[in-house]
Amino acid sequence: MRKKYVVGNWKMFKTSETALNYFSDLQNKLRDSTTVLPDIGICSPAVFLQELSPLKRSVHLYAQNVHWEPEGAFTGEISTQMLLGCNITGSLVAHSERRQYFNETNLSAGKKLNALLSQNLQAIYCVGESLQERESGEFNNIIETQLKDAFIQCSQEVKNHIQTSAKEHNSTQISVHPQPLSIAYEPVWAIGTGKAATVKDAHDVHQFIRKVLSEIFDHETANSIRILYGGSVKASNAVEYLSDDKIDGALIGGASLNPDDFFKICCLTNL
Ligand code: 13P
Repeated sequence: MRKKYVVGNWKMFKTSETALNYFSDLQNKLRDSTTVLPDIGICSPAVFLQELSPLKRSVHLYAQNVHWEPEGAFTGEISTQMLLGCNITGSLVAHSERRQYFNETNLSAGKKLNALLSQNLQAIYCVGESLQERESGEFNNIIETQLKDAFIQCSQEVKNHIQTSAKEHNSTQISVHPQPLSIAYEPVWAIGTGKAATVKDAHDVHQFIRKVLSEIFDHETANSIRILYGGSVKASNAVEYLSDDKIDGALIGGASLNPDDFFKICCLTNL
């Protein structure tokens, strides 16, 4: 069984004060909740991570981006060593906004995956097609390339690490957390547009992603990796996605900015 995973991505929103208040408020709500909750994560702007980290109880805390080198002359970047120093769970990799505005490629994404996973940090690797790619019918090929070209950058050691974690997960039949790798399917045309993919579209792509993962790793490993859907998920549509057997959770932008809204979505996953 893959336990559902609900992750909020704050993008470039919040101040130090609102981030701290939100993080404490959310965790108090979760502590007081009587509902069976999913795993929960927040992807915060890097500048707040150090302040948020000591407050971390049940919520996993992620950066939104990371560099692949452990250190060096890379102005403006942050490294896996810095995340480790702040006791952070891991990082998003290749969010579509990084691909679109900051020249993120499958090659750089692969190097970042390798850097995170080799340091025992978690990665949420984002894939997804543009509107043009969806309409041309080429979207499965695009997603397959995003996966295969990135994981080819990962060392055999990293692949073994993912496979070993999957075996442990499957043999215990409980959610061994943290699983090192999750995938987020985020069709670009559904992000921040209010135009969410249909559950059927997301279901089909998730099934396809799992098939590609089984070619990259093996069947058992592919079965243990959580695949989240992202793109205009909110309290009013979250149940539809989260009750689908191929959708293991959600990566939520706009609707994660308010702790009440985000908490509501977390509680809806009691399925
Ligand atoms: P929205 O939920 O605002 O569409 O954003 C999705 C997203 O990009 C999460 O990473």
